[in-house]
Amino acid sequence: MHERLYTEFPEIYDAIQSEWDYDRDVTFIDRHLEDHCGEGGKLLEIGCGTGEHTCRLADMGYRVTALDKYEGMLALAREKCEADFRHATLPDIDLTNTYDAVIMIRGVVNHLSPDALEPSLRAIESHLAEGGILIFDNSPLPPNGNHPAMDIGTTDQGEYARIAHHVAIDGGRLEWRSVTFTSDGECFVNSREMTPFTDDELRDALQHVGFEVTTYDGFGPGDERTVFVALASSSRQERSIDT
Ligand SMILES: C[S@@+](CC[C@H](N)C(=O)[O-])C[C@H]1O[C@@H](n2cnc3c(N)ncnc32)[C@H](O)[C@@H]1O
Repeated sequence: MHERLYTEFPEIYDAIQSEWDYDRDVTFIDRHLEDHCGEGGKLLEIGCGTGEHTCRLADMGYRVTALDKYEGMLALAREKCEADFRHATLPDIDLTNTYDAVIMIRGVVNHLSPDALEPSLRAIESHLAEGGILIFDNSPLPPNGNHPAMDIGTTDQGEYARIAHHVAIDGGRLEWRSVTFTSDGECFVNSREMTPFTDDELRDALQHVGFEVTTYDGFGPGDERTVFVALASSSRQERSIDT
């Protein structure tokens, strides 16, 4: 694996995602949190990346703790707003608080291996307050891979060009491979293993861990992801008192 997009070139990640409708995603989340916490509620975001959802939710009045596996992504996120950004990798999260909701947006779950799925859901469940909810999406990845495609975009430094595609590998997984040419003459290769989970696989794993699951067709119009809203078991006691 060569994860240089997330570690060294987060500003190119932001440029690639510049057309993304982050407002639509947080509107959905805000609507579903109404019955659980509302403004001022405690959210744990996992896989926050460069913080686009985090900062919008913080602006709306939520108290957000936002985790990511890569310091490169977190460094750019910290430049955008004042949320509590922390370096941590699912399933190895061990925070002292519980949260009203956990969110994982934009295929974060697809970065997990099949073996890590259930331990990750258990780790999340242990960080939810009684009756808390988990909201995440399943990206519609091509299970058999796809053809290379090119995109050209602009960062503050200038134009970049990237060619990327998914290749099917062992274990029902995909390797996402890309080559990017930056404006300052650099060229970098990125490769990352991803899992094209079916919705049924995710639903079964959630139910096995004890969540009640509802699914939605996307965060809003034009969104092809399946969104999972999963209610934690109400029988568990609080993990700790917030300080
Ligand atoms: C496609 S990006 C989404 C970022 C952000 N949520 C957004 O919508 O722009 C996936 C993010 O998940 C993070 N990530 C991947 N696996 C992770 C793990 N096991 N634990 C924590 N973060 C992870 C990556 O570092 C990356 O920032």
